[in-house]
Amino acid sequence: MNSQYTRTAISLHWLVALGILLAAPLGIYMHDLPLSPTKLRLFSYHKWLGITVLLLAIVRVLWRAGHRPPAMPYKMPKWQQRASEAVHLALYLLILAIPLSGWLMSSAKGFQTVWFGVLPLPDLLAKNIPLGDRLKELHECLNYLMLLLLVTHVGAALKHHFVERDGTLLRMALRLKKGTP
Ligand code: HEM
Repeated sequence: MNSQYTRTAISLHWLVALGILLAAPLGIYMHDLPLSPTKLRLFSYHKWLGITVLLLAIVRVLWRAGHRPPAMPYKMPKWQQRASEAVHLALYLLILAIPLSGWLMSSAKGFQTVWFGVLPLPDLLAKNIPLGDRLKELHECLNYLMLLLLVTHVGAALKHHFVERDGTLLRMALRLKKGTP
């Protein structure tokens, strides 16, 4: 049985990861800037990037619903299997919930999102500043939760690669040669 992920699964994994790795530090950086045209421009870039991650995350979740991951190349203790499934499920939920909470927050604060400056997206909520403030806190908390889970996820991947040397990380490595679609 093939123990590699397909090229589609690998591409979606790394595209979503790249989007998050760009959007999260940008979010932290722009948050502390004094109000200026630069701050507003960075807010727009962050929102465009976040909506792109949301679209990729939706494609990824739909793809995953129709494609089971490949079998593990070795036997993993039951608790480890359960823990990794729980972390993966939580990460799937967060890659949807984080951009969605950002979009809801912007809507409630009365700032429409215009994707890449050309496609106006509908506001998901009517203007309501106190609700916008709560959603901002939610957006921040979900990001902290994701950071925690990412540390666990990346730590487990590195432990498999460098300590157990069982090839788990290579299953998700980008492959440039032709292979499984
Ligand atoms: C990959 C998806 C996303 C990630 C990882 C992400 C991450 C972050 C982070 C880490 C912050 C800083 C939080 C803080 O320190 O207070 C932030 C702020 C913000 N995010 Fe996102 N975000 C994402 C998607 C979105 C989307 C889709 C929108 C809106 C359409 C959005 C709107 C905002 C806004 C407006 C702020 C600034 C809040 C403020 O300072 O008033 N985000 N985001």
